[in-house]
Amino acid sequence: MTPSTKKRVLSGMRSTGKLHLGNYVGALENWVRMQDEYDCFFFIADWHALTTDYADTSRLKENSVEVLLDWLAAGLDPAKCVMFIQSHVPAHAELHLLLSMITPLGWLERVPTYKEQKENIKEKDLGTYGFLGYPVLQSADILIYKADVVPVGEDQVAHVELTREIARRFNGFYAGKREYVFPEPAALLTPAARLPGTDGRKMSKSYGNAVMLTDPEPVVRQKLKTMVTDPARVRRSDPGNPDVCPVGDLHKIFSTKETMAKVYEGCRSAGIGCIECKSWAADALVNILNPMQERRKKYEDDPRLAWDILEAGSARARGVAGTTMNEVRESMRLDYSSNYEPVKDSKK
Ligand code: TRP
Ligand code: SF4
Repeated sequence: MTPSTKKRVLSGMRSTGKLHLGNYVGALENWVRMQDEYDCFFFIADWHALTTDYADTSRLKENSVEVLLDWLAAGLDPAKCVMFIQSHVPAHAELHLLLSMITPLGWLERVPTYKEQKENIKEKDLGTYGFLGYPVLQSADILIYKADVVPVGEDQVAHVELTREIARRFNGFYAGKREYVFPEPAALLTPAARLPGTDGRKMSKSYGNAVMLTDPEPVVRQKLKTMVTDPARVRRSDPGNPDVCPVGDLHKIFSTKETMAKVYEGCRSAGIGCIECKSWAADALVNILNPMQERRKKYEDDPRLAWDILEAGSARARGVAGTTMNEVRESMRLDYSSNYEPVKDSKK
């Protein structure tokens, strides 16, 4: 398929620094698969990171680079997809501003992530204009590329829905003779295998229970050793159940059928110990992480390579975004350069 007949995919991640296995199975693995089939744009949302972490920006740049390195490590390929950084495409901000003019406050106050985070995050003041506008910026990110498909996790579906509503409202006001300016994007829900962290809760950087994509083998093995198991298996002789064990969940996601069979059999009959079982899970993780860490080396040794990819991607993105913005300005009658006739100065 030529790029023009492929559907366009757009998605982003906030620049939060190094990624973990949960980010991989929850998003990245899916993106890597999509880059062969779709016209893909993936970006690092550094401005979105500012909506909550505005007070201390000392790690912003570093965090963005870490995300990019993990993307490349996981197999995103600059020959197959466009990777860029949000702040390198200033047109996102222009569209954000224009969309903010037509977005009713009530739509934003209703967004579930807004309500939840405002209640749950107490250590930062989220009563800012920028934080309320988070989903408007996200809408601009999506609409400026006229994306057809937006792969996201469950928590982001409401944001894509809002994007559709904003697109509809914009088209209603300004499409004029056109059928529409912005196509309505569809959310593609990433089938979320819930990946447990070492403490059995959902893997999350902030819980300190994550296996990072950059963890070397000894660290992975150590983390697995301390991972919680089926609480019913107190002694080696007690039978257990992989279906209620976080290590069992890891096996289900990462291990082969043969290993799975050994785990079910051995755990239920108390034929294997948890230490052995965990070492098999560690084997599976190491198997996945090794090739990533191998790929990452090249870019760590020569960071210029990664920056070049980002710069080339950002230039591509600016081109596409610029074309959309020309259309947006024209449809909103903000295209002064071609219509405006200067009034002659009568005093001369
Ligand atoms: N809000 C998304 C998240 O927290 C990140 C994001 C920003 C995004 N802009 C986007 C995702 C546009 C998809 C499309 O995960
Ligand atoms: Fe969990 Fe494996 Fe121990 Fe069973 S043997 S309880 S699956 S770690």
